[in-house]
Amino acid sequence: IPEYKVVMLGSGGVGKSMLTTRFINGNFSEDYDPTIEDSYRKQCEVDDMTCVLDVLDTAGQEEYIALRDYHIRSGNCFVIVYSILSKATLNEAEAIANKIFQTKNTYDVPIVLVGNKCDCATSRKVTPEEGREVAKRIKSGFYESSAKEGIKVDDIFIQCVRRTKHF
Ligand code: GTP
Ligand code: MG
Repeated sequence: IPEYKVVMLGSGGVGKSMLTTRFINGNFSEDYDPTIEDSYRKQCEVDDMTCVLDVLDTAGQEEYIALRDYHIRSGNCFVIVYSILSKATLNEAEAIANKIFQTKNTYDVPIVLVGNKCDCATSRKVTPEEGREVAKRIKSGFYESSAKEGIKVDDIFIQCVRRTKHF
């Protein structure tokens, strides 16, 4: 069975862990418990093909980002998450993508950019267009999601596999 190493990246508190646990076991929590590093495995069907996703949920908090280089090297594909409630996290997402290109020494890397917390649309600070523009620059897929309401969560991981098969 083909295996895909998916690495979750993005600023602290944007929802990487909640997207991951929502995908892996359907769980969501309102509590914020900053991650150091967690990994999960899930078997799934993508386009009639069975595969295993090995999802590495990384730390967004400053104290732990020294590990980022190592995580980038270990991944096949990347989900870069920002929050639609913070423009700074979108800027950070683009910086992370550039770090991936530099580390992998190529622009041909499967990436899905995700604007999470779309259930909080009334407090939105980043428009979908601003997210899509960054996605265009980094040549990634793009979704707005809600881990809380389970919006577009599976689509993120399915697209990750599809893009990886392309490279
Ligand atoms: P680090 O591990 O520190 O990098 O943070 P993280 O990106 O893993 O964020 P986490 O998933 O822990 O979520 C941070 C906070 O945001 C928690 O209080 C979650 O409940 C909340 N949160 C996550 N996703 C959503 C969402 O889609 N909508 C809303 N409203 N809140 C969310
Ligand atoms: Mg986390």
